[in-house]
Amino acid sequence: MRNWRSILALPAICLAAAAFAQNSPDKNGADKTEAETAPAAKAAPEKVGPDKIRPEKVIRYRQSAMDMVGWNFSPLGAMVKGKTPFDAKEFSRRADRLEFLGPQLLEGFSKGSDTGAETDAKPEIWTDFDNFQALLNDYVNESKKLADVARNGSEADMKEQFRKTAESCKACHDKYRAE
Ligand code: HEC
Repeated sequence: MRNWRSILALPAICLAAAAFAQNSPDKNGADKTEAETAPAAKAAPEKVGPDKIRPEKVIRYRQSAMDMVGWNFSPLGAMVKGKTPFDAKEFSRRADRLEFLGPQLLEGFSKGSDTGAETDAKPEIWTDFDNFQALLNDYVNESKKLADVARNGSEADMKEQFRKTAESCKACHDKYRAE
C-alpha cells in the first residue's frame, strides 16, 4: 500500500520541482546588470578563512575535532590496558585517523575563539600561543609516530608510543583545558 502511494505521489513532486526551477531567480540572473545582482552576492557569507569564521563555530569545530581524537584514542587505551584484546590492525586503523586529525586541530584555536560559546579552553592559550602551539606540535609528532609504529612496529612498540602520545594530550590539557 505504502509503495503504491509513493509511486503515485512521484509525478506531483516532479511537477513541483519543475515549477520551482522555472521560477528560480538564477535562471534570469545572466540578464541582470552587476548592480542588480550585487545584493544577492552580499548576502553570501564573506567569511572564508578560518580566522574569519564566527567564534561559536570555531569552538564547535575544535570540540568536535577533539571528540573525534578522543573517539579514536580511547579504544587504543583499552587495548593497551588489556581491557579489550589487542588487535594490531584495528590499532593501526585508529592511529591513522589520529595522524590525519592532528594537523587539523590548530584551526580550531583561531584568534577570537577564546569566547563565544561554552568552552573549556583557557584564555592562556591565546596569550601564550607559541607555547600552546609547541604542545600541539608535540602531539602531532607523537601521533604521527604512533601511526608509523602501528604500521611497522611490535605490540610493545605500539604500547610504548601510545603512552607517549597520551602524555602529550595530558601536557596540553593540564595547562590549557579547564577541568
Ligand atoms: C595542544 C593542546 C591539546 C592537545 C595536544 C590535546 N587536547 Fe584535547 N582539548 C584541548 C582543549 C583546549 C580542549 C577544550 C576545548 C573547548 O572546550 O573548547 C580539549 C578538549 C578535549 C576533549 C573534549 C571535547 C569536547 O567535547 O568538549 C576531548 C575528548 C579531548 N580534548 C581529547 C584529547 C585527546 C584524547 C588528546 C590526545 C590524543 C588531546 N585531546 C590532545 C587541548 C588539547
